[in-house]
Amino acid sequence: MLRSVIKGSGSALPKRVVTNDELASQIDTSDEWIVERTGISQRHIAGEDETTSTLATDAALAALADAGIDAKSIELIVLATATPDNTFPATATKVQHAIGCDGGIAFDVAAVCSGFLYALATADSMLRSGMAKRALVIGAETFSRILDWEDRGTCVLFGDGAGAVVLEAVESEEDGPGVLTTRLHADGEQHDLLYVDGGPSTTGTVGHVRMKGREVFRHAVVNLTDVLNEVLEDMNLSGDAIDWVVPHQANARILDATARKLGIAPEKVVVTVDQHANTSAASVPLAFDVARKDGRIKAGDLVMFEAMGGGFTWGASLVRM
Ligand code: UT7
Repeated sequence: MLRSVIKGSGSALPKRVVTNDELASQIDTSDEWIVERTGISQRHIAGEDETTSTLATDAALAALADAGIDAKSIELIVLATATPDNTFPATATKVQHAIGCDGGIAFDVAAVCSGFLYALATADSMLRSGMAKRALVIGAETFSRILDWEDRGTCVLFGDGAGAVVLEAVESEEDGPGVLTTRLHADGEQHDLLYVDGGPSTTGTVGHVRMKGREVFRHAVVNLTDVLNEVLEDMNLSGDAIDWVVPHQANARILDATARKLGIAPEKVVVTVDQHANTSAASVPLAFDVARKDGRIKAGDLVMFEAMGGGFTWGASLVRM
């Protein structure tokens, strides 16, 4: 059967690291509070010369190098972001030009923190339907540009970065590699729990992130547990069959609670929230790249991606490496 196989991964982080102590010198917070409530110790923040497209381009080039694939053979770029360089055109088209593969398909996907899952599912469908043979799926964000730096309830939580994977349509055996199943959901009723209070068609401004953290937390654990169970049921598997969970990195306590509910051992959960904070659509491919490059995720492993974010949107995808 035709499957979308991950051939390589890459990531990119801004040069500047901002510690909790640095934030505590500017607003009423503390390293102790941030670590205890979120697990975050530091985040990377984009400088003036770094944008969503430059980070995405660096991650894409790293993924191509890792896969040993020439950029010219990429026919599809799906880029997940809530912080595009411009309102239009799509940041994906900037990346396409920067890596030198003009002429194929390139567009952005807006599903905030679940963006990488939505982008992966979109690219997977397009590859399996024959619209393209090779794709780049990218999650890239500069959330620092839409944070209210006086709102301690949100500004300590987020960071900037990008991650990318190269997908290739390959004839695979039943137990061979590739994206095995994906489940996506959205619930617009929960708009007001996590949103940006601006936009081109409403205020004409970019706006700032607004979140009711405690309520988002509650929904996140329930929604993620449900969607992970759906994916496991699709494949007739139990939690202990999964080699690695690569979750959206919003809060270490959400990762722990979700893993516990599914009976997945905590050491199988890839955690980067301590180093990167919440990088929205970039967090899953960033964490995936870290765990591949340090040798944890290997060929043949069953890897579960999962994420939940503004909208609400949420989803999970099971991939064999
Ligand atoms: O990526 C999309 C998905 N996003 C998420 O999944 C985020 C989900 N939510 C969370 O991760 C957590 O709810 C937060 C980390 C945002 C907050 O943790 P919490 O344990 O739910 O705290 P809280 O919002 O209930 O606030 C507890 C207290 C409050 O003080 P009072 O009212 O109890 O006196 C806050 O004002 O902590 C206070 N607080 C802070 N204190 C120091 C809130 N932010 C801070 C801060 N530093 N940065």
